[in-house]
Amino acid sequence: MKISVAGTGYVGLVTAVCLAEKGNDVTCLDIDEDKISLLQKGISPIFEPGLEELMKKNKDNITYTNDYLKAYNDAQVIIIGVGTPEKKDGSANLKYVYEVARQIAQTVEHDCVVIVKSTVPVGTNDKVEQIIRENKKNNIFIEVVSNPEFLSQGTAVKDTLHATRIVLGVESKNAESTLREMYNNFNIPIVVTDRRSAEMIKYAANDFLALKISYINEMANLCEIVGANIDDVAKGMGMDPRIGDRFLNAGIGYGGSCFPKDTKALHWLASFNDYELKTVKAAIEVNENQKIKLIKKSRKYFDSFNGLNIAVLGLTFKPGTDDLRDAPSLVNIPLLIEDGAHVKAWDPVGADNFRKLFPDEIHYCESIEETLVNADICFIFTEWTEIKNFPLNKFKKLMRNPLILDGRNCYPLTEAEEAGLIYESIGRKKVN
Ligand code: UGA
Repeated sequence: MKISVAGTGYVGLVTAVCLAEKGNDVTCLDIDEDKISLLQKGISPIFEPGLEELMKKNKDNITYTNDYLKAYNDAQVIIIGVGTPEKKDGSANLKYVYEVARQIAQTVEHDCVVIVKSTVPVGTNDKVEQIIRENKKNNIFIEVVSNPEFLSQGTAVKDTLHATRIVLGVESKNAESTLREMYNNFNIPIVVTDRRSAEMIKYAANDFLALKISYINEMANLCEIVGANIDDVAKGMGMDPRIGDRFLNAGIGYGGSCFPKDTKALHWLASFNDYELKTVKAAIEVNENQKIKLIKKSRKYFDSFNGLNIAVLGLTFKPGTDDLRDAPSLVNIPLLIEDGAHVKAWDPVGADNFRKLFPDEIHYCESIEETLVNADICFIFTEWTEIKNFPLNKFKKLMRNPLILDGRNCYPLTEAEEAGLIYESIGRKKVN
C-alpha cells in the first residue's frame, strides 16, 4: 500500500517505520527541515530502541520529505500523527491536526482514507472530516478514520509491531476494509467501533493507567503513615487478575508526553460539557503533590539546601527515552537551585536535552561516580538500569553524607541498610 504519514514524532515515525517493515511503501512528512535532513541520513531524531535499525533495514520503502504535495499526491492512506500539545487551560491544541487536514484537502486528487492517529478529543475526527469536505478541490471521496496509538516511549517499536489491540473508529465498511488491509500482516486483534468511541478509548485507557499510578502512590503514602510496605501491598493486589500487577510501581509520579496531557485534556473536555470527572481530577492532584515528595522527605534531614552538594541521578520521565516532558526532575531541580544548592546531575541519554533548558545552573557528569563525589544528598528521579545496578557500597565511599532519596524504589531496603546508607524511598518499610 502507498501510505503517507504526517509528523515524525514518536507516533508518526514509529508507525511509518513499522508499516514499511510490513511491506508498505511509506512517505514521512514533517515541516521541520532539520528533522527531515537527519532522517534522510538514516538518523532518528528521537531516541527509541530498535528504530534506527528498522529505518536502515527498510530504507528502500521509506521516503522522507518536507513537501506535502509530494507526500499526499498518490497516497492511498494518509496518517495524521502530528502533536497535540497542551494549551494553557489544559485542553489539547489541535491546530497542527487541522492544518494537515486542510493541506490534504487542497492537495489530494483521488479517493483516499485519512487516519487520525494523534491523540485527539472526542469529536475531532468529525471536525477533520468537515475541514476536508469544505476545502477539497475535486469531487473526490475522502474518509476519515480514528485509529489511536497505544505505544509507550522506550518500547515503541515492539509496542507497535506486537500491539495488544488495534482500534478502528470507522463510519463505513469501505474505510474498515482499507484499514484491515493495511494491518493485514500485523496479526493483532482488531476492535472496530465508531469514531467517537475510538477517540474516547484512547483517553479512557491512558487516564485509567494514570489513575492506577496515582492510586498506588496514595496507597504508598498511606503505607508510610500506618507502617505498611507498598511492595508487598502491590504484590498482593496485583496477583488478582482483575487488578493486574503492571503499573503498580509507586514513585514520584507519572510524567511524559501523554498521561499529564491526556488527563488534563479529558478533564477539560468533561468540564466543557458541564461534567466533573472527579476520579481523573484526583489523579492529577495526587500526581502534582507526589512529584515533590522527596523534597518534603528531605526536610527531616535539612531545613534548607543552601550550600549543599546535591547529586541527581536520572533526568528523563522514565528510562529508555531522552524525553523530559513533565519529568519530575523539571519540578525538583529548579526548587533545589532556587534554594542555593550546588547540583550535579547524570542521565545516560537525557542530559543533552536538560542542558538546553539549564545550560549553566547544573554541572553535568559523565558517570554516576563523578556525580556522587562529595554529595550531601543524592536524589534518584529515574530508574535507569545503570542506577539500579550501581554497587550500593560506592554511595558511602563517594558521598560526604550518604543520604539517598530514591523516588523510584531502585534498591532493596536491607541492602541499602547493610551498605550503611540513610535511605528513603516511597511507601516502603523493612519486613522482618
Ligand atoms: C503512555 C501509555 O503507557 C501508552 O500506552 C500510550 O500509548 C502513551 O502513553 C501515549 O499516549 O502515547 P508513555 O508515556 O510512553 O506511554 O510511558 P509509560 O510507560 O506509560 O510511563 C508514563 C509515566 O508513568 C512515567 O513517568 C513512569 O515513570 C510512570 N509510571 C509508570 C509509574 O510511576 N509507575 C508505574 O507503575 C508505571
